[in-house]
Amino acid sequence: MSIEVVTTPEQKEDDKTLDATLRPAWLSEYIGQEQVKNNLHIFIAAAKTRNEPIEHVLLHGNPGLGKTTLAYIIAKEMGTNIRVTSGPAIERTGDLAAILTNLQEGDILFIDEIHRLHKTIEEILYPAMEDYVLDVIVGKGPAARTLRLELPKFTIIGATTRMSLISAPLRDRFGGQYKLELYGEDEIEQIIHRSARILSIDIDKDSAQEIARRARRTPRIANRLLKRVRDYAQVKHAGHISHAASVAALALLDVDHLGLNMVDRKLLQTIIEKFNGGPVGAQTIAAATAEEQETIEEVYEPFLMQLGFLARTPRGRVVTEHAYRHLGMHVPQNVQEKLAI
Ligand code: ADE
Repeated sequence: MSIEVVTTPEQKEDDKTLDATLRPAWLSEYIGQEQVKNNLHIFIAAAKTRNEPIEHVLLHGNPGLGKTTLAYIIAKEMGTNIRVTSGPAIERTGDLAAILTNLQEGDILFIDEIHRLHKTIEEILYPAMEDYVLDVIVGKGPAARTLRLELPKFTIIGATTRMSLISAPLRDRFGGQYKLELYGEDEIEQIIHRSARILSIDIDKDSAQEIARRARRTPRIANRLLKRVRDYAQVKHAGHISHAASVAALALLDVDHLGLNMVDRKLLQTIIEKFNGGPVGAQTIAAATAEEQETIEEVYEPFLMQLGFLARTPRGRVVTEHAYRHLGMHVPQNVQEKLAI
C-alpha cells in the first residue's frame, strides 16, 4: 500500500497554483527570514539609489522555504521583469545564449536548481555574469572563431538546495548570498493565518497553532496542510475548522503531533533497530530504508536534527533520547555516551 506523504517540502503539481496564489508580492508582506529580508532590503535600496540593476543573488536553503518567492519579490521591488528557468532545463549552450540575448537591461533571470547546470553552460555564464558578454563560437574546425556579443546589464538570481555542489568560481560571482533557515513555529502560524485570509478559510488560533506545530517549519507544508484540513472540515464538520477537526484531519494524513511522518519514523526506527541507535552513515541509512540519500540529507535530517531527535557525530548519525521517548521506546543507557564522541 502506498500512502501519499503530505509533509514533503518539494513542490508537487498541486502546490504550483497554491504557491502562486499565496506568494507575498512585497518584502513587507513576507513573514520570517528577518536577517535575509533586512539584507535584501539594503541590497535593493542601494541598487535603486544608484539606478543600477542589483548584483547577482544566490539563495540557498531547503525546499519550500521561499527561494522562488524571494526572487519574484526582488523583481517586484526593483520594478523589473523576471524570467524563470532551471538548471536542468538549460540543456545546450544555445539555450542559454537564446535566453541571455533576449534579456533587456535590468531584467532578472531566475535559475532554479542552479547546482544542476552543465559545466559547459556554467562556463558561458562566467563572462556573462562578470562582464555582460557572451562568447559564441561561429563556424567549425580551423575556420571557427569566437564572436563576442555584448549583453544588457542583467541580474541572475540562482536558487539551490545544495550549496556544496556549487563550484567556487560560480559562487564567487554572486554579490549577494543568502541562506534561508527553517521558520519559527510562530512565523508559520502567522503564515497560516495570512493564507487562510487569502483563501477565505475561517480558522481559529488553536487550529492554526496545531497545523503550525506539525508543518516542519516549512511554509509550503503549512499551506498544504491548511488546505487538507479545510477539505476535511468541509466534509466532516460542516466547514468549520475546529481544533478537534484539525487534529482528526492531521491524524488521517499520518502527520503526528510534532509533524513527523512515516518516513521520519522509519528512519529513526531503522537506526534504532538495525544499527543499535547509531552512529551510522547516511549512505548506510539510505540503503537500509530504500530512501534516497540526498532526500534524507536535505529533507529529513535537518528537521529531525532541529527537533533534537538526531545528532551528527564524526562517526555518523545518532538517535537521541528525545527520539526514543517520542517513539515510545525504551531509552538505552549508552545514548549520552554516543553523543559525547
Ligand atoms: N506564504 C508562503 N511563504 C510565506 C512567507 N514567508 N510569508 C508570507 N506568506 C507566505
